[in-house]
Amino acid sequence: MVAVAILAAGRGTRMKSSLPKVLHSLGGRSLVERVLQSLTSISPSRCLVIVGYQAEQVKTALSARQEARGKRQEEESNFLPAVEFVEQTEQLGTGHAIQQLLPHLEGFTGDLLVLNGDVPLLRSETLKHLLQTHQEHQNAATVLTAHLPNPQGYGRVFCDGQNIIKQIVEDRDCTDAQKQNRRINAGVYCFRWSDLAASLPLLQANNDQQEYYLTDIVDLVAPVMAVDVEDYQEILGINDREQLATASEILQRRVKSKWMAAGVTLIDPASITIDDTVQLQPDVIIEPQTHLRGNTVIQSGCRIGPGSLIENSHLGENVTALYSVITDSVVKAENSIGPYAHLRGHVEVGAGCRVGNFVELKNTKLGDKTNIAHLSYLGDATVGDRVNIGAGTITANYDGVDKHPTQIGDRTKTGANSTLVAPLTLGADVTIAAGSTVTEDVENDCLVIARARQVVKPGWRLKSPQD
Ligand code: UD1
Ligand code: CA
Repeated sequence: MVAVAILAAGRGTRMKSSLPKVLHSLGGRSLVERVLQSLTSISPSRCLVIVGYQAEQVKTALSARQEARGKRQEEESNFLPAVEFVEQTEQLGTGHAIQQLLPHLEGFTGDLLVLNGDVPLLRSETLKHLLQTHQEHQNAATVLTAHLPNPQGYGRVFCDGQNIIKQIVEDRDCTDAQKQNRRINAGVYCFRWSDLAASLPLLQANNDQQEYYLTDIVDLVAPVMAVDVEDYQEILGINDREQLATASEILQRRVKSKWMAAGVTLIDPASITIDDTVQLQPDVIIEPQTHLRGNTVIQSGCRIGPGSLIENSHLGENVTALYSVITDSVVKAENSIGPYAHLRGHVEVGAGCRVGNFVELKNTKLGDKTNIAHLSYLGDATVGDRVNIGAGTITANYDGVDKHPTQIGDRTKTGANSTLVAPLTLGADVTIAAGSTVTEDVENDCLVIARARQVVKPGWRLKSPQD
């Protein structure tokens, strides 16, 4: 049986942030959420998250995540147990944090996998390998290690020839000679719980920080074995913003390689960011300066960018989106979006539409083959098929207190600079004359002219004061 503990109580002083470190976001997910995600192949029987600094905030963030993912997880085979929170009210070190588990794991007989909440890039295969090695060798503890080109800041691991650990020394406690050792502690461990539980009360805080170090357990149990990670990039710990940026680069490289191998073209990949929650189909082309975020799905044949931001949106086949922002929306196949369009707040665009220059759509549904090509705002509108929304058409949907709906029937055409004062229903095959301010509902098949008639006075000239 395996239980998991995640260390997430520290403040993360080096981040210089009011947000707890483990809630900082990396590619659209918090660090601690990513750590949880790496557990999928482990199927632990329990999952304890140790919280302390701004515990409520961390708990709220993880509980919201659990609710959102709960249903999906039940359907997936990789089931994660409910997260249990353990409070560490004073942060006296990683060893002290694990001591807080003692009352919670009383009588537990299996292995405890310990993960740092600030090591977000671990692959679940790596954890599986660590656990297997631990169990095969019947170790008291097994520590994930790596050989780093620049080991600064990490605890150094000293082993004998058989990978049996003799000592782990924190960077700040190292002598100059010890600092030369590039083998570091990744902050990921597997312990035989019964041995760990017996030794935890014996930890002492005699080090530079006067903290109880979990790493000192290596002096108290045996054997403790080191297992090297294949790709050291996986174990990057996030202690400051620089490391957060490095982790983001590593993650981006992983995500982009995956999509390029799957048949997606990225033009100037360095200028593009893609969250690892995004799904792309083959023959999608992503142009420079484009950012794909959240639960976005982009189907085959789409050309996105340059300069577009797509977030939590679904784009059907063969959509182009040029210099545009699309959030929380669905755009069906064969659409042309932009340049400079903004779709937000649950927009649905039917197939074969054109949403052009400087058009903003909010909570609006367009039928198929409808055009809204220039300089318009539609909010809370439902628009039929083959409608033409003339340049500069605006829904006046907000009276200062409430938002009101606008309905526009099939094949209706609004003239340039129409103002549609909601609530308003225009039937099918209606034509609105340019410059109209429409305030009353219109039946099918009507022409509406709602503007002052033009007055022309021949032979009239403004008298200037000098005359
Ligand atoms: C730790 C390890 C170091 C290792 C590195 C890997 C110790 C003593 N050192 O150092 O050997 O190379 O991780 O990234 O363990 N935390 C608590 N309660 C506390 C203190 C910390 O929950 O009282 C949590 C933090 O929120 C963080 C994790 O433990 O998620 C690690 O703490 P941090 O202070 O970042 O340890 P490092 O100095 O990085
Ligand atoms: Ca750390």
